[in-house]
Amino acid sequence: MADTGQPVPIPDQLVEWARAAETVVVLTGAGMSAESGIATFRDAETGLWSRFDPQQLATEDAFRADPDLVFGWYAWRYDQWATTRPNAGHEALARWGDRADVRVVTQNIDDLHERAGSTWVRHLHGSLFTWRCFDCGRPYVGPIPQPDHEAGRVPPPRCGSCGGPIRPGVVWFGEMLPTDALDDGIQACQDADLVLVVGTSGIVYPAAGLPEIALGLGTPVVEVNPDSTPLTYRADAALRGTAATVLPALVDALG
Ligand code: OAD
Repeated sequence: MADTGQPVPIPDQLVEWARAAETVVVLTGAGMSAESGIATFRDAETGLWSRFDPQQLATEDAFRADPDLVFGWYAWRYDQWATTRPNAGHEALARWGDRADVRVVTQNIDDLHERAGSTWVRHLHGSLFTWRCFDCGRPYVGPIPQPDHEAGRVPPPRCGSCGGPIRPGVVWFGEMLPTDALDDGIQACQDADLVLVVGTSGIVYPAAGLPEIALGLGTPVVEVNPDSTPLTYRADAALRGTAATVLPALVDALG
């Protein structure tokens, strides 16, 4: 990772764009929550997909084949993440919301943007904090039984209506994104005066296509990421730093 841990200077041009922007869209991925202690997916050493096989955990077929394993894996995360705290990056975006229309479109299934105080947040990949019946789709509100370790199996609770197994409200590989969230995300990118892309490797579509909308309209697109991504050389600026370092510095620079 190229990040040195040093403060990242905020370019004057970005401060100018940010001060002038009435509508700011922030597209976030797993790197946004990394400094809250939530592992990213593709980090070579700590990324979830370097330690677990997404085909065994994040598809409908996986749930059908081994519901106890899949339920247990998400139930563990649900319990851990409930006590995780927003980091300085989440808090900076919420502060920015006091002076501009800041719209957060996230691939993250945590609720750290909301807990930091951001009011306009759309979850493209669903939420770990909603549950529903795998068979009939009815929402489930009730206890989430816990496994005794990270990869432990636990039988899903049953739906009160049809008896089907309960699944997390996240989007698995091969599933459609929630239409409302995607439509709002597209519209937000069309309305934006400035788009920030924070902490995503930018390889999972359709989320990875959203910056293209802004680029096509000539709206400034700025990446915040310690590493380079496919977007880096197309963005108007790329800030090589972490979310919890760069975003507070940027919001402080607004004056
Ligand atoms: P990835 O794990 O693919 O990428 C995380 C990105 O965050 C990388 O580009 C890192 O360089 C960057 N990063 C790491 N630490 C950071 C920090 N402190 N501040 C800023 N950036 C940092 O995660 P996503 O791009 O979110 O989907 O992954 C996209 C989707 O793939 C996820 O929503 C998930 C996954 O499979 C589903 O499960 C459907």
